[in-house]
Amino acid sequence: MKKLSGNKKTKTAVFISGAGSNLKNLIKFSKFKKSPITIDLVISNNKNAKGLKYASKNKIKKKNFSFRNTNIGEKKSLEILLKKKIRLICLAGFMKVLSKNFIKKFRGKIINIHPSLLPKFKGLNTHKRALKNKENFSGCTVHYVNSNLDSGKIILQKRIKIKKNDTAYSLQKRILKEEHKIYPKAISKILN
Ligand code: GAR
Repeated sequence: MKKLSGNKKTKTAVFISGAGSNLKNLIKFSKFKKSPITIDLVISNNKNAKGLKYASKNKIKKKNFSFRNTNIGEKKSLEILLKKKIRLICLAGFMKVLSKNFIKKFRGKIINIHPSLLPKFKGLNTHKRALKNKENFSGCTVHYVNSNLDSGKIILQKRIKIKKNDTAYSLQKRILKEEHKIYPKAISKILN
């Protein structure tokens, strides 16, 4: 994906639903001189999402829209995304599936982080399923979002070894640390 104009940074929105550790990390990344993005908008589908505090702390515009009706949530999001001239959408623990129609409007400009080695373990409860399946490795993936769940082109992946005594919780914690490393790298990869 090319930057749209000259040396200007790419205006980015982050979509969250929960804790927002990836959001926090992306905000930190966006403040580096060499970062290709600015974060101009945070959208949450959950008004209690803890991650919203990182938007407030950093004076980033934040919006909470119910996505119980996906159409309405997307329509409201679209309005503000266009108004703020957002060119990249980073899904970071956003637990709603976006519609084909919405994705089409931002074709090639929506990316997601997923806590598994895609194409393995699309969807929910990835760590539990990786353990149950007796996998030797797990990890995380940054990928483009297309209209099939967790199936878009892979941008970057990090593999880690599953330890004998790993639980879903310990695995999640270890993988989250790796997510924080690869999400910024993936953004730099597609924008630089
Ligand atoms: C992260 O592990 C992310 O990969 C996962 O939710 C967590 C959000 O954590 N996303 C998905 O499972 C999407 N299918 P965070 O709110 O602390 O960034």
